[in-house]
Amino acid sequence: MKKFVCLVLAMLFVFSLCACGAKPAAAPAAAAPAADAKLVGVSMPTKDLQRWNQDGANMEKELIAAGYKVDLQYGSNDIPTQVSQVENMIANGCQVLVIAAIDGDSLGTVLAQAKEKGIPVIAYDRLIMGSDAVTYYATFDNWLVGVKQGEFIEDALDLKNAAGPFNIEFITGDPGDNNINFFFDGAMSILQPYLDSGKLVCPSGQTEKATVATPNWATDAAQARFETILGSNYADGTKLDAVLCSNDSTSLGVQNALKANYTGEWPVLTGQDCDILSTKSMLAGTQSMSVFKDTRTLASKVVEMVDAIMQGKEPPINDTETYDNGTGIIPSFLCEPVACTPDMINDLLVASGYYTEADLK
Ligand code: BGC
Repeated sequence: MKKFVCLVLAMLFVFSLCACGAKPAAAPAAAAPAADAKLVGVSMPTKDLQRWNQDGANMEKELIAAGYKVDLQYGSNDIPTQVSQVENMIANGCQVLVIAAIDGDSLGTVLAQAKEKGIPVIAYDRLIMGSDAVTYYATFDNWLVGVKQGEFIEDALDLKNAAGPFNIEFITGDPGDNNINFFFDGAMSILQPYLDSGKLVCPSGQTEKATVATPNWATDAAQARFETILGSNYADGTKLDAVLCSNDSTSLGVQNALKANYTGEWPVLTGQDCDILSTKSMLAGTQSMSVFKDTRTLASKVVEMVDAIMQGKEPPINDTETYDNGTGIIPSFLCEPVACTPDMINDLLVASGYYTEADLK
C-alpha cells in the first residue's frame, strides 16, 4: 500500500514538472495576496521622519510578497490615534500585530485586548513597556548605537591622548521612547569617564538624560533648546568641540541652531539613521557621522518572524537577556548598526541601493 502511494505521488510530481516546465517560473513581483490571505497589522508612529516611511513601505512590500494582507497605519505621533488604529486592527481580524510605539508606556490597555484574542505582538524597533502582551521584539542593538556615537567622539577629539579639556553638549530623543535609555547610556558608557576626569566639560551643565531629552525627537524642539544653550554659554566665543546627538532629526536641529548662532570652528556632531538630509549634511561637512540602521534588514527580519509565527514555528531570536519591558525579558532579534562617516556613504548607502546618487544631490 505504502509503495503504491509513493508511486502515485512520484507520478504526480513528474506530471506537475512536465505541466509547468522543469524550471519553476519566476514569482511575479509582489503579486496581490489571495482573498483568504492572513492579515497582519503594522502600526508605525509617524510619517514625519523618513525612516518610518521606509520601515512601513518595506514591511508592506515584503509581507505582501510573502502572501499576507497588510493593514499599515501611521499614528501622526499622536498616542490616541495609534491606540485607535491598533484597536481597529484587532477588530478587523489581524492575526499578528507589528507595532513601533509612539510612546512605549501607552499601549497596555489596547494590547490587553490583543492578548485576550491570542494575537501575538511584535514590538518593532521600540520596546513596548509594561505589557505582558508583547511576544517578541525586533530592533537594532541600541546600546551599540550609543557606544558607536560615544566612540566616534572619543576618537575625533583623541580623548585617550589629548590633554583637553574639550567642551561638549548632549541631546537625546523622546522620553517616552525606551530606546533613549540605550542610546544615551551606551554613549555615556564611553564619555562619562572623561566628564568625571574633567577632560570633557559640559558648559551648560545639562548632562542628565531627562534634561537633554527632546519631545517627539522633533528638529524644531532640538533647535530651540540649542539656541538657548548657545546664547547662554557660547555667545562670548567659548568653543564648542562636540555635540552628542542621539539621532539625525535632533542633529539637524543642532545644526540649524549653530548656523545662526555660532561662529567658531564647527564641532563634531553625531547622528543616527543616515536620513537623506543628514547624509547630505555629512557630505556638506556639517554632520560628522551617523549610525546606519538598514531598515531593509529589520523589515526582512520581522517578516521572517511573522511568517514563523503564522506557521507555528519559532521565530529567529538572538537575544534573551537585554530587553525587560517590566513584565519580564522579551525575546528579541537585534540587527547590527554600522557607524557611517562621510567617506563611507558611497559604499554603504549608494552601492547597496539604499539611496540613488540623485537622492543625495
Ligand atoms: C529610533 C531611531 C529614530 C528615532 C526617532 C528611535 O526609536 O530607533 O532610529 O531616529 O526613534 O524617530
